[in-house]
Amino acid sequence: MTNNSEKDRKMDSIVSLAKRRGFVFPGSDIYGGLAGVFDFGPNGVELLNNIKKLWWKANVYDKENYYGLDAGMFKHPRVWEASGHTSGFSDPLADCRECGTRIRVDKELEAVGVTADEKMSEAEINELFDTVRDKITCPKCGQKDFTPARAFNLLVKSNLGDFTSEGGEPVYLPGEACQGIYLNFKNVLDSMSPKLPFGLVQINKAFRNEISPRNFLFRTREMEQADTQLFVKPNENKVAFETLKQDRMDWYVSIGINPDNLRFKQHENLVFYAADAWDIEYNFPSLGFDELEGIHDRTDYDLSQHMEFSGVDLRYLDPETNERYIPWILETSVGLGRLFLAVLADAYQEEELEDGKSRTVLKLHPDLAPYRVAVSPLLKNKPQLVEKAREVFAMLKKEFGNVAWDDNGNVGKRYRRQDEIGTPHCIVIDFETLGEEDESLKDTVTVRDRDTGKQERVAITELVGYLK
Ligand code: GAP
Repeated sequence: MTNNSEKDRKMDSIVSLAKRRGFVFPGSDIYGGLAGVFDFGPNGVELLNNIKKLWWKANVYDKENYYGLDAGMFKHPRVWEASGHTSGFSDPLADCRECGTRIRVDKELEAVGVTADEKMSEAEINELFDTVRDKITCPKCGQKDFTPARAFNLLVKSNLGDFTSEGGEPVYLPGEACQGIYLNFKNVLDSMSPKLPFGLVQINKAFRNEISPRNFLFRTREMEQADTQLFVKPNENKVAFETLKQDRMDWYVSIGINPDNLRFKQHENLVFYAADAWDIEYNFPSLGFDELEGIHDRTDYDLSQHMEFSGVDLRYLDPETNERYIPWILETSVGLGRLFLAVLADAYQEEELEDGKSRTVLKLHPDLAPYRVAVSPLLKNKPQLVEKAREVFAMLKKEFGNVAWDDNGNVGKRYRRQDEIGTPHCIVIDFETLGEEDESLKDTVTVRDRDTGKQERVAITELVGYLK
């Protein structure tokens, strides 16, 4: 069992490694940061892009009848009315009467062991809140005197296209990425003529005015969501939903996540339009098991709403029966920040070594690692070694692209550095490569494995195949 302080320490270590090694920086860092916003650094953007590539491959290229999209972020103001976000997309907040600090009541209730569902009404939340007020203290001043909870809308407003001084109707930033898919359902039908069941897939940004962004990338105000929306015949949702759930769980295992850190959780209270909803939970450091991805049977709600609000017929014409109907939508949605955190946490290990020292290593799936391999000359002041290492570097770079050149410090330090960013292999060009000590070893290099630390001699001509 891992206790809480160990889990907190692991989160702190991951946050620190992420900054130290160029994965994730606090947003607007030189100005003291901006809560709930993070920037991905040189190693982070590589890891993030690799996650996206594997996700896209699994959800577009490996599937039949799945199509990608990339919708504009700004949308017509009616979209968020049709989707229910302007009226119902909120968190219950209360103010401390002593110092004005705002708390998120559902989270505070959770912390004292009371489950408040996100679908509860303001009155229901307040009823629960009143039963435990004596246990909830203000995080700033320590008082227990709060206003009643009230709904706080999470949509982020912009002034796009508004040139009046009064402020016209706001154009919102997207509260969820999937609306861009629903808005293009008809365009895809008209341009691609897909037959049901078919999927539309998108990675796009979403923004939420979270009152208490926390736990690093877990709860942020700006996020990217990777969504699949499977359109099915109304009575063909159940089997497809089960297949989808398993498919998504299997994908996490396929990218190297430990199955013991994953589990399904069914939602107890469904929003009124949903037929079923599950989370895939990950055992996050500091939090324990919590939502990584949502899998939702959204029925015909989204397309029906957009049909009503836009006045455009969004029904599908069934080529077999000649019937027109609104397909049901089965959705999978994962925040890439949360996924990035899960990948980092799962790969992160601190190991004691035989020489009494320790190392930190990211045991990332090779297809996710920022660099596939690092190349270095044993000594950077020996021109023959550097020249040979440069040749090997150029050859591998042509093949893989993401190859690191590392000649800083001694070889031991280079290994530690590459371990910390998860590089699966390190190649060292030494005097044996030049054939100075043993002619039979000429044009071979040392290849060190990140996970075992074992070293092998491999001929330069066989390196590409070996690494693949
Ligand atoms: N379209 C469905 C939808 O947006 P959601 O459960 O609100 O559903 C889907 O969000 C996923 O987006 C979550 O499972 C989580 O991975 C991610 N997510 C939601 N809010 C987030 C936040 N504030 N910060 C980071 N990720 C978030």
